[in-house]
Amino acid sequence: MTDQKFNPSQKFVQNANISSSSIYNEANADTDQFWASQAERLTWFKKWDQICQWNPPFAKWFLGGQINASYNCLDRHVKGSKGDKNAIIFEGEPGDSYTLTFNQLYTEVCKFANVLKSLNVTKGDRVTIYMPMIPEAVIAMLACSRIGAPHSVVFGGFNSEALSNRINDNNSKILITTDGGWRRGKIIPLKKNADKALENCPSIKNVIVAKRIGDKMDCNMSKGRDLWWHDLTEDISDQCLPEHLDSEDMLFILYTSGTTGKPKGVVHTTGGYLTGTSSTHNIVFDAKDDDVYWCTADIGWITGHSYVVYGPLLNGTTTVIYEGSPDYPEKDRFWRIIEKYGVTVFYTAPTAIRTFMKWGAERLLKYDLSTLRLLGTVGEPINPEAWLWYHKHIGYEKCPIVDTWWQTETGAIMISPLPGVTPTVPGTATIPYPGISIDVVDETGQPADMGYLVIKKPWPSMLRTIFNDEQRYIDTYWSKFENFYFAGDEAMKDSDGYIWILGRVDDVLNVSGHRIGIAEVESALARHPAVAEAAVIGRPHQVKGESIAAFVVLKEKFEGSDVLISELRDIVIKGIGALAKPDQIFFTDELPKTRSGKIMRRLLRDITSGQAIGDTTTLADSSVIDTLKSKC
Ligand code: WTA
Repeated sequence: MTDQKFNPSQKFVQNANISSSSIYNEANADTDQFWASQAERLTWFKKWDQICQWNPPFAKWFLGGQINASYNCLDRHVKGSKGDKNAIIFEGEPGDSYTLTFNQLYTEVCKFANVLKSLNVTKGDRVTIYMPMIPEAVIAMLACSRIGAPHSVVFGGFNSEALSNRINDNNSKILITTDGGWRRGKIIPLKKNADKALENCPSIKNVIVAKRIGDKMDCNMSKGRDLWWHDLTEDISDQCLPEHLDSEDMLFILYTSGTTGKPKGVVHTTGGYLTGTSSTHNIVFDAKDDDVYWCTADIGWITGHSYVVYGPLLNGTTTVIYEGSPDYPEKDRFWRIIEKYGVTVFYTAPTAIRTFMKWGAERLLKYDLSTLRLLGTVGEPINPEAWLWYHKHIGYEKCPIVDTWWQTETGAIMISPLPGVTPTVPGTATIPYPGISIDVVDETGQPADMGYLVIKKPWPSMLRTIFNDEQRYIDTYWSKFENFYFAGDEAMKDSDGYIWILGRVDDVLNVSGHRIGIAEVESALARHPAVAEAAVIGRPHQVKGESIAAFVVLKEKFEGSDVLISELRDIVIKGIGALAKPDQIFFTDELPKTRSGKIMRRLLRDITSGQAIGDTTTLADSSVIDTLKSKC
């Protein structure tokens, strides 16, 4: 840890959207009114009758209001003065690149919304989007929101099984995908993965396939079911009136990992989510009309939803979309992109920063990154060394850094410095956003210096429920403490009230900023015919934050071998995706268990880290510890 404090520069403060801490007082004095003022930045077809209704644990915001997300991202900019401004700057991994102005994006979204309508998609129908980072993904999302069809975006790095589970959970009617996508010069066969997934997805009536790869990729088009994007959009009207949606109509479902093997379909509704994302994008990223803003997240994650698509487009900001990997063709790809487009605001994950550190600052010398004026991080705690490196080598010591804490469930940033107001300290996300009531509490719910992170009052962009599983919503977030939202993170609060996030307290891993459920990996491993039982833990990793280690008990007659290790890795890659692949797999005859049969993962963590073994009094058979120690 470091106590070094960084104040925003005079120059930054002078031009900042928010330069006075009085915004906190205003928000504290009347939180509902503060959120109403933020909601007023959007265009409503009909204004709300009531700001917030809180029937714990169920919140509604802007009740009676009518609004449309795509209208707010597009029509009002087109009708205003931004029609010819770039909405999207796209760079494909192979080097192709183009821009879409707000006018062009508006036209494409209207056309695609009409395509969806022509396939009988109506308000409330779910649409799954499984695509690489290309503008069609944004067009698809906004077209769904235009007609009131909730989208469910599935990360393109997930495999068939993960895709079919998500489709079946919400019974999507349509799947939108591409022939493939580029990653490190290789083709990711998205349509092929989708075909496999669809063997078990009876709800899907049609698949719309955008051509990304073209001739290099064979695509099996199933007659009557599969349709090409370019055919469907060729002769269709470019006029499509936006649906007047209720503020509480569902905007999207996004799946995230939890403590059980089944991912949770986090539900976000329209008015509150748009309010949260537009407000935070404007204030935390200090949105300016001439910004070229780049958030490197994939649209398959919440960061991509809120800060690649909705936040920036709501504020009429130019958003950069890059399809591929930071090290392709060389490890300088990101710096090339920043220089080429004159990126002004850059938002990425600590794991990426640690990777850049490993690659060395010399790579940066060739590039002029002086257009950058503000930097952000998200997804995991940032270690002070990485923060200082980011500040020095990317920010040239002049850019404020906003370390932003939030979650899929919170919809928008919850803890962050305001770049023109809050002194920053490397390693802490600092203080809650105006209007957000966050605290650190002990087991009994009393404020503590170290303990559980909770949110004490509802906020507009909060999740409304888990799709089709209200009980899980209640159990996961609202049963540990009465009327406090339990975030699943452990945190510390220092004497300045700054919050230091320490990590998850539930069975969720954070690998390179990606949330992965321990139970998901364990159940993928258990599907291998040789596996009797598996236990998975996270181990501290210098670059990824955490890496996955698996302890596997084999069935009788099977023996551990390198071949089996690679089969086990493969089964995880096929079941979930490469992001969940265990780095280490240990074979063992037994797992440490309590007398009631619960696996004691804590002991496995102690053993692998070489630390003193914690309390073992509840362990059924203590000899297992010595056996395991000899293996790790
Ligand atoms: C972690 C990503 C420390 C945290 C937006 C949280 C962070 C989980 C930070 C949510 C941060 C996110 N500092 N930890 N700035 N941001 N996290 O749902 O554990 O993919 O609960 O949302 O990431 O991950 P999710």
